[in-house]
Amino acid sequence: MNTKFSSNDLPRHLAIIMDGNGRWAQRRGLKRHEGHRAGAEAAAAITKECLKLGVERLTLYAFSLENWKRPKLEVDTLMRQLKRFLVERRDEIVEKDIRLTAIGRLDMLPRGTLSELKRVTQATAHCTGMNLCLALSYSGRAEIVDTVRELAGKAVRGEIDPEEIDEKIFNASIYQPGADPDLIIRTAGEMRLSNFLLWEASYSELFFTETCWPDFKVEELHKALAAFSKRVRKYGRLEPGDAAKLAVAAGKNAPSREKESTPAPGTTV
Ligand code: IPE
Ligand code: IPE
Ligand code: MG
Repeated sequence: MNTKFSSNDLPRHLAIIMDGNGRWAQRRGLKRHEGHRAGAEAAAAITKECLKLGVERLTLYAFSLENWKRPKLEVDTLMRQLKRFLVERRDEIVEKDIRLTAIGRLDMLPRGTLSELKRVTQATAHCTGMNLCLALSYSGRAEIVDTVRELAGKAVRGEIDPEEIDEKIFNASIYQPGADPDLIIRTAGEMRLSNFLLWEASYSELFFTETCWPDFKVEELHKALAAFSKRVRKYGRLEPGDAAKLAVAAGKNAPSREKESTPAPGTTV
């Protein structure tokens, strides 16, 4: 039972840029692939904790479209490790009622890795617990381009009127519809998104830590969640308290949320 965070404090959707496996290994005089192996263990431990805490959706950036440009040996090793991870963890994922999904240009994955991925996604399709989404061969810009292409195809076939395309329709057509992350964590000190969830991150809270991913433990996850619980998410509006003060100063009643004109993100004007 989670007593540390109430469900109001928790991000419903947490996304993590798991960076720093290579540096973690290099600092220990190890090979980069050993860093990736340690990174996979960290991913398993953090997933378990998120499940325990009641996070509904966890998206892990595991391999970017740009990561294909790394040396072939590193890419091949990563793909083999991913396949092994999926084989070894399949029963556990099913048993924990975790639904595994994946986003990205998955057709670029090696056949063996892709078939294991499909096997786990199919085996967990009925699961109703946490949704664990792996971003693999993923790029935010590619996602936007793929979505535009899909919508353009529908317009050409007369299935939608281009004039009707709005944020709501776009949102429904992206890889993981309706799942803007509430919180994005990036490890290893870089303060950039590196092409992660560009469309979805419009109002995500960001948390950066110097810790390399294999060293990112449950305690540090709690630190990030505690920081998130203190954030005030305004979506362009004023804080309710500020709006009330301004109204009092102007001798009026505070405007109610419903009367404000700014729509919540993800809705249309
Ligand atoms: C993140 O760690 C894992 C992947 C990108 C696949 P890195 O491999 O980027 O580690 P650093 O940034 O080189 O330390
Ligand atoms: C981002 O890390 C991608 C993943 C964590 C999978 P990178 O290490 O590829 O990002 P850059 O190159 O430092 O921006
Ligand atoms: Mg990196």
